Amino acid sequence: MTFKDEIKRRRTFAIISHPDAGKTTLTEKLLLFGGAIHVAGAVKSNKIKKTATSDFMEIEKQRGISVATSVMGFDYEGYKVNILDTPGHQDFAEDTFRTLTAVDSVIVVVDVAKGVEAQTRKLMEVCRMRKTPVMVFVNKLDRPGRDPFDILDEIEEELQIKVRPLAWPMGSGTEFNGVYNIFEENLYLFTPNKQSLEEGIEFKDINDKALMEHIPENAAESLRDELELIQGVYPEFDKEAYLKGELAPVFFGSALNNFGVRELLHAFLKIAPSPRPSQAESRIVQPDEDKFSGFVFKIHANMDPNHRNRLAFVKICSGHFQRNTNYQHVRLGKQMKFSSPTAFMAEKKSIIDEAFPGDIVGIPDSGNFKIGDSLSEGEVLNFKGLPSFSPELFRYIENADPMKSKQLAKGIDQLMDEGVAQLFTNQFNGRKIIGTVGQLQFEVIEYRLLHEYGASCRYEPINLYKACWIRSTNKAQLEDFKKRKVQFMAKDKHGRDVFLADSSYMLQMAQESFKDIEFHFTSEF
Ligand code: G4P
Repeated sequence: MTFKDEIKRRRTFAIISHPDAGKTTLTEKLLLFGGAIHVAGAVKSNKIKKTATSDFMEIEKQRGISVATSVMGFDYEGYKVNILDTPGHQDFAEDTFRTLTAVDSVIVVVDVAKGVEAQTRKLMEVCRMRKTPVMVFVNKLDRPGRDPFDILDEIEEELQIKVRPLAWPMGSGTEFNGVYNIFEENLYLFTPNKQSLEEGIEFKDINDKALMEHIPENAAESLRDELELIQGVYPEFDKEAYLKGELAPVFFGSALNNFGVRELLHAFLKIAPSPRPSQAESRIVQPDEDKFSGFVFKIHANMDPNHRNRLAFVKICSGHFQRNTNYQHVRLGKQMKFSSPTAFMAEKKSIIDEAFPGDIVGIPDSGNFKIGDSLSEGEVLNFKGLPSFSPELFRYIENADPMKSKQLAKGIDQLMDEGVAQLFTNQFNGRKIIGTVGQLQFEVIEYRLLHEYGASCRYEPINLYKACWIRSTNKAQLEDFKKRKVQFMAKDKHGRDVFLADSSYMLQMAQESFKDIEFHFTSEF
């Protein structure tokens, strides 16, 4: 296979949803189709749940929450599919944001009864920012839910994206008979089956008389009417608009009962993009360039609790990655070669000799990598699109064991490199402030500092509203601002100026009084 063919057959994506909409179940079903796992997750034994969501951290075992993000790759009908798992818990949203920077497209799962929920809306904002192509899977059609037309309107409005159904449900709840595949123009009748991949009965023509032997005439009649309505209301599916992130094809089904998943997967493979170009600071990098480049979007710690080892997840942006070959670690300005890069085939990890754009490679790391680091064949490339977002919660972090201050400093430093949370240093009093998206992150930090670094920390409250990265071409005004607001000025981990506003009123006043200063809620602008 040529290098270009290898790139063309890759589909790297993430499934995102509000917790409980069915992301794990859908992931399992896709893995089943790919032959990557062999037991369906209907009786979701812990084992399956864990292999499908991956867990490397002790803390995760304790809490039963998928803290970690991992990769599941498999081959299917000539395609190489890479699913990047994202933590379901909203307190780890920042992990999910970063994972979204490494994917070429996204499948959003929406619960037919609950519609679009908060977490989905937030994640969709990141997709919009990056113009990521998005497909929607409306799940749990086997349960009583909302009218499909209402759900489509809600998706369009709440996710601010045009929609186009490419599958259509016949009835719902106990009346759910099947899914008409608009994309391939055929109908599969529903035989609830949680365990196997039996495909049901296929009809090419919805006017087929034999259909009546299986479903009531009025069900077939309503399907025909609804399909007519769809053709009248929605313009033809426009693949270009989808690839630009302007239009979301929508599918309906039941992940648990394995219905509508095949339709989704087949359409996905045909229309979802292969690896897209990546934006570096200096230029755009094309996947089919000869020279290898990639960036670290995730670092896993504690792969093995007995050794403090980490795994840096590298997304390959261009070129042909090879084992034991010298590559440039751009930030450190040094050559490194990797003897045991790992690939992920479902739950199995194995050492690989090569990888291609779109693939994710795990590199064992003893502390050389930070999130956002680039690797290349010599060129200074810094990939964009890995911004920090303003945290929601802030606390002072203090040393609770004076004998262990070195351990604490090292622990905080490494945990921040991994992207567990954000650290700000107040310029007025030198105190360290941890910013997180959720309460759980504080607990993770405290736990990990103690268990991995032998350090104890204590949190103290601080009342803050947002962290704003500031910038101005008016140097005098910027200096004046920093002087006047010295109590609220901090540096982030990279030494950038951050204004810590304690209320939206304070921020508004600052914006009005200092017109030449830009206030940003993300670190990249
Ligand atoms: P998540 O990863 O998005 O958080 O969702 P997950 O797949 O874990 O699914 C959440 C719950 O919804 C699970 O039930 C799952 O079995 C159920 N579910 C998923 N897809 C469907 C579907 O198509 N139809 C119906 N009726 N239910 C579905 P649970 O009871 O919370 O978990 P479990 O005890 O089954 O593991």
